[in-house]
Amino acid sequence: MLCWHLLIYLLLGGTAFAVDLVPEYAEAREGSDAELPCSLQRADSLDKVSMVVWHKGNEETALYKYDMKGTSGQHWADPSVGDRYFLRLLDGERALLTISFTKLSDEAIYHCRVDFNRSPTRYTHVNLTVVGEWNSLISSGCFIVTIKDFVPEGTEQTLWLTSLATDKS
Ligand SMILES: *[C@@H]1O[C@H](CO)[C@@H](O)[C@H](O)[C@H]1NC(C)=O
Repeated sequence: MLCWHLLIYLLLGGTAFAVDLVPEYAEAREGSDAELPCSLQRADSLDKVSMVVWHKGNEETALYKYDMKGTSGQHWADPSVGDRYFLRLLDGERALLTISFTKLSDEAIYHCRVDFNRSPTRYTHVNLTVVGEWNSLISSGCFIVTIKDFVPEGTEQTLWLTSLATDKS
């Protein structure tokens, strides 16, 4: 990774500040919200963001755009994602793309491109992993709770669980 950074740095003649090859990691449960970070850092802190564009994987067309060239920012999302995607600028340094009702098909490497009035364009790559509902139920212990619900209160519960464990061996 260090070598790649160095190579890119040399190729761009020292503007490595605008390039970030290491992807950020984001995880979300299927059906819940995912939050994808995007860096707005630039060399000149007085410089303004003019455009934020999100791409999914290797897709040519943008999935989401936030245009700040006018007086008020304009949000645009591809009809395929409808209103599930929304970008918020948290502070001068960070923006968050929120995906609501995350689907398994949302899992991908996302690329956020930020154009500034003067500073070089900056990219953030985010690796989004979506954990299926089935898996998240298991890890949250929901099945244990369900089994317990069927077992009567008291000592019988212990007996039943013991026999379950014995049956397995
Ligand atoms: C994205 O994350 C997954 C799950 O952790 C990992 O297997 C995969 O290699 C990552 N992809 C990239 C390009 O970093």
